[in-house]
Amino acid sequence: MIDTWPEARPPTADELAERASPCAGILTMLTERVDEALLERCPDLRVVANMAVGFDNVDVDAATAHGVLVTNTPGVLTEATADLAFALLLAAARRLPEGSTAVREGDWGPWDPGWLLGRELNGLTLGIVGPGRIGSAVARRAQAFGMTVTYCGRRDAVAFPGLRAPWREVLRTADVVSVHVPLTGETAGMFDAPAFSAMKRGAIFVNTSRGGVVDQDALRAALESGQIGAAALDVTVPEPLPPDHPLLAAPNLIVLPHLGSATHETRARMAELSVDGLLSALRGERPHHLVNPAAWERAGRGAGA
Ligand code: GLV
Ligand code: GLV
Repeated sequence: MIDTWPEARPPTADELAERASPCAGILTMLTERVDEALLERCPDLRVVANMAVGFDNVDVDAATAHGVLVTNTPGVLTEATADLAFALLLAAARRLPEGSTAVREGDWGPWDPGWLLGRELNGLTLGIVGPGRIGSAVARRAQAFGMTVTYCGRRDAVAFPGLRAPWREVLRTADVVSVHVPLTGETAGMFDAPAFSAMKRGAIFVNTSRGGVVDQDALRAALESGQIGAAALDVTVPEPLPPDHPLLAAPNLIVLPHLGSATHETRARMAELSVDGLLSALRGERPHHLVNPAAWERAGRGAGA
């Protein structure tokens, strides 16, 4: 039997637990919290297929302890998300939203050689924080635009198109910082007041990862003081961000409603991958994109598989 949540809004924790309690598998979005409380109410659950590459909405340790497999959708959204990060970077550097608003509001006056001047990417340094698949794809785009790329992150990225540097050094030397880390205990709030102060004055800050990696009050202050020249975000806390949220009062800020993977091609592939993960697990096969191999081993399925 398949039960489908019929509403546009996400289920509350209670609604989710009630609907999921008889299920052997659930296909979740990044809006669904899968935690100990939910897992306890779903004794038959064998798999959670999260239709996202990020899985900070899932308590993976708790799932592993319950023997529940967790799958995600890596790879298929890399190029789409990198495109969006680059679109944000260009929009911020060349002040596209301001220009577009000026046309509609009747502020397009006589030709003015000093009006709405931005920055050109050629010759600037891009600092990538989080050199995973998406970070690499952004770095490749940056190189095509004549940028120098530096990066830092936990993994020693193999064949990353850029120069590795310590975190502080990346912040200090980058004209643009783009964030591509997962949200974890370690990365939560890593872009705080000291981080923004360590950046070049007037630097551009782009975030297409998770809103939780940024201290939004610190970002707002940095934009107000001009320490950060412009910020372009695809992710915020909370999502949706209410139109009267204080962050939106900051100058030189672009906010998009979490569109990183929002292309026809990518969303279709993400849906396929999630369903594949779900069905493989239910057939007793090891899913391709298993987040917690330990749950597989734990169930004693590792040996012969
Ligand atoms: C979207 O943010 C994802 O993690 O896939
Ligand atoms: C996500 O797919 C990443 O590795 O950046």
